[in-house]
Amino acid sequence: MKLSSSTLLIIFSALVLLVSCATSSPATDNFIQCLSNYSQPANPIFEAIYTPKNSSFPSVLLSYIRNKRFTTPTTPKPLAIVTAMHESHVQGTVLCAKNQGLQIRIRSGGHDYEGLSYVSYVPFVILDMFNLRSINISLEDETAWVQAGATVGEVYYRIAEKSKEHGFSAAACHSVGTGGHFSGGGYGNMMRKYGLSVDNVIDAQIVNVNGIILDRKSMGEDLFWAIRGGGGASFGVILSWKIKLLRVPPIVTVFHAYRTLEQGATDIAYQWQHVGHKLPEDLFIRVMPQVFNASQDSQGGKKTVVIAFIGLFLGQTQGLLSLLNESFPQLGLQQNECNEMSWVESTVFWADHPIGTSINVLLERPKQPVIYYKGRSDYVKEVIPKEVLESIWKLMIHGGIGWMQWNPYGGRMQEISESETPFPHRAGNLFLIQYGFNWLEDGIDVTNKNLNLSKALHDAMTPYVSKSPREAFFCYRDLDVGANSDNYTSFDKAKVYGVTYFKGNFERLVRVKTMVDPNNFFKNEQSIPPLPNYK
Ligand SMILES: Cc1cc2nc3c(=O)[nH]c(=O)nc-3n(C[C@H](O)[C@H](O)[C@H](O)COP(=O)(O)OP(=O)(O)OC[C@H]3O[C@@H](n4cnc5c(N)ncnc54)[C@H](O)[C@@H]3O)c2cc1C
Ligand SMILES: *[C@@H]1O[C@H](CO)[C@@H](O)[C@H](O)[C@H]1NC(C)=O
Ligand SMILES: *[C@@H]1O[C@H](CO)[C@@H](O)[C@H](O)[C@H]1NC(C)=O
Ligand SMILES: *[C@@H]1O[C@H](CO)[C@@H](O)[C@H](O)[C@H]1NC(C)=O
Ligand SMILES: *[C@@H]1O[C@H](CO)[C@@H](O)[C@H](O)[C@H]1NC(C)=O
Ligand SMILES: *[C@@H]1O[C@H](CO)[C@@H](O)[C@H](O)[C@H]1NC(C)=O
Ligand SMILES: *[C@@H]1O[C@H](CO)[C@@H](O)[C@H](O)[C@H]1NC(C)=O
Ligand SMILES: *[C@@H]1O[C@H](CO)[C@@H](O)[C@H](O)[C@H]1NC(C)=O
Repeated sequence: MKLSSSTLLIIFSALVLLVSCATSSPATDNFIQCLSNYSQPANPIFEAIYTPKNSSFPSVLLSYIRNKRFTTPTTPKPLAIVTAMHESHVQGTVLCAKNQGLQIRIRSGGHDYEGLSYVSYVPFVILDMFNLRSINISLEDETAWVQAGATVGEVYYRIAEKSKEHGFSAAACHSVGTGGHFSGGGYGNMMRKYGLSVDNVIDAQIVNVNGIILDRKSMGEDLFWAIRGGGGASFGVILSWKIKLLRVPPIVTVFHAYRTLEQGATDIAYQWQHVGHKLPEDLFIRVMPQVFNASQDSQGGKKTVVIAFIGLFLGQTQGLLSLLNESFPQLGLQQNECNEMSWVESTVFWADHPIGTSINVLLERPKQPVIYYKGRSDYVKEVIPKEVLESIWKLMIHGGIGWMQWNPYGGRMQEISESETPFPHRAGNLFLIQYGFNWLEDGIDVTNKNLNLSKALHDAMTPYVSKSPREAFFCYRDLDVGANSDNYTSFDKAKVYGVTYFKGNFERLVRVKTMVDPNNFFKNEQSIPPLPNYK
C-alpha cells in the first residue's frame, strides 16, 4: 500500500494526539500553571486538579458518569479535571481554559443522556462541581440556597430535616445534580401542582465568561431567564440557586399498580390519556409501559408488555380512592396498593427503593455507571387510538427491550405561558413521553442494535406526537435531534435542535447568548450559538 503524504500527516497527527493525551501537553501544563494564580492559602487549588498522571484520575472521571455508552476506550478523555472546592477554582478554570484555548465541560451530577458534561471531541477539561454542594434552608421565608453540585436527593433530605411540610418540585431520581437539572427545566411528580423546578427558582449565582460572579440583580433578567431552562452550559457556570420551598401535607399517598395486557392495561392506559391531565393537581399518575418477560409457566418465557401506574397523591388514601372512583375507576386501584408516608419518604419510593428504605439513601452518590442507556422524548397533544397502542406494544415486544414513561401535564403546567421561561411545553400537552432503552451487555453491536430500536420506536410514533416542530424535552438530551441537518450551516443546525427544545424561545436565547458570550466559549454539540454575523 502506498501512503500519500497527507495520509502520513494524518497518521502522524493522530499519534501526536494519542501521545499528548497519554502524558501531558503544553496546553495542559500551561493550564495548570495558570490555575496556580487562583490558589489561595485557605483554598489550595492543587488538591482539586487531576490529570491522567494522578492515579485516581480514572475513578474521578468515572464517578460522575451515569451512562456506560461513554466509558469505552475510544471515548475522548479530558486533559484535566478540576473538582472545584471553592468559587475561586471555578473562576480560575474558566479564565485559564479560555486563555489556553481549551474547551470546558461543566459537570454537576453527570446525568446528561449523551455525556455532554464530560465528553468532547476537541481538547477539553472538565470542571466538576460535585464538591460544591452546600444547602442552606431558611424556613422563615420558605427559601433555600442550593449549590449546583448538590443532588436533588440532598435537597429533599435537607428540607425534610427542617420541616415535614415542605418539599420541592424536581426529579424522581435523587442522584440528579441541580446544576444540570434546574438549568434544563427539571420536572418531577409535583409539576402539575407547582410547575417545574425552574418555575420555583428565584435567584442564582453564575460565573460568566470573564470569570465574574453575578447574581440575579447583576446578571439582569435576560440571563436569569435563559438559565432557567435554556441550559446553563451555554451561558456560564451556575454556582448556586435560590429556590422557593413548596408546601406539602405531612402525609401523602403513593402507589405502584401493575396491570397486564390480560387485565386490560391497554384500555386503562387509553382512558388515562383522557383524564391524566385533567385530574386535580394534587394527583400525579405516571404510566409506564415496559417490555417484560412473561412467566415461564403461562407464556413459555415470551416477552410481553406490562404497564405500571405510579402515583403520588398529596393527601390520604381515602381521599385518593374516592377521587379515583369518581374520575378514573378503570384503574381499579385497591386500598392495599396504596401506601401512606411522609413526603420525603415518597421521594424514596418514587426512586424505586423498597418501602421501608431509610431516607439516608437520598444522600448516597453512585460511584460508577452500571447501565448503557439511550433516552428520547416526545410531546402528545391528541389521544393516541387504542389500536395504535396495541401496535406500539407489538413493536416493543418485537425489539425485546425498552420502556416508556408517560408523564401527565395540565394543572399548573398549563397556566404558565410558553415564554415565561425557555421551557416552552406548557398548555395543550396531554403528556410527555420518555422512551428509555437500558442494557447491560458490552459491545458496539449491542449498542448499535439498541440505538436502532430506539429509532424504530421513535419513527413509529411520528404520526401521533407533536409536529412542526416535533418537540422534545431538553433535559432528555438526544443527539439524534437535529442529526439530519449535516448540510446546514452550524447556526441553522442549531436552529433545528433549538426550536425542537425551545420553540419560539430559541430566538431570545440566541440574543442572550450573543450578549453574554459572543465568542462562544461555552459551547457543546447542542448549545445555544451566538448570532453568526455578530461583530
Ligand atoms: C436516571 C435519570 C433520571 C432522570 N430523571 C429526571 C426527571 O425525573 N426529571 C427531569 O426533568 N429530568 C430527569 N433526568 C434528566 C436530568 O434532568 C438531566 O440529565 C440533567 O441535565 C442532569 O443534571 P446533572 O447535573 O446531573 O447532569 P450533568 O451531566 O452534570 O449536566 C447536564 C448538562 O448541564 C450542564 N451543567 C451541569 N452543571 C452545570 C452548572 N453548574 N452550570 C452550567 N451548566 C451545567 C452540563 O454541562 C450538561 O450540559 C434524569 C436523568 C437520569 C440519568
Ligand atoms: C498567571 O501567572 C503567571 C505567572 O505565574 C502569569 O504569567 C500569567 O499571566 C497569569 N495568568 C493569569 C490569567 O492571571
Ligand atoms: C495530582 O498530581 C499533581 C502532581 O503530582 C499534584 O500536584 C496534585 O496535587 C495531584 N492531585 C490530587 C488531587 O491529588
Ligand atoms: C451556606 O452557608 C455557608 C455558611 O455561611 C456558606 O459558606 C455557603 O456558601 C452557603 N451556601 C450557599 C449555597 O449559599
Ligand atoms: C428475560 O429473558 C431473557 C431470555 O429468556 C433473559 O436473557 C433476560 O435476562 C430476562 N430479563 C429479565 C429482566 O428477566
Ligand atoms: C364509588 O362510587 C360508587 C357510586 O358511583 C359508590 O357506590 C361506591 O361506594 C364508591 N366507592 C368508593 C370506594 O368510594
Ligand atoms: C442499525 O441500522 C443501520 C442503518 O439502518 C444498519 O446499517 C445496521 O446494520 C444496524 N445495526 C444493527 C446492529 O442492527
Ligand atoms: C448533503 O448533500 C449531499 C450532496 O449534495 C447529498 O448527497 C446528501 O444527501 C445531503 N445530506 C443531507 C442530510 O441532506
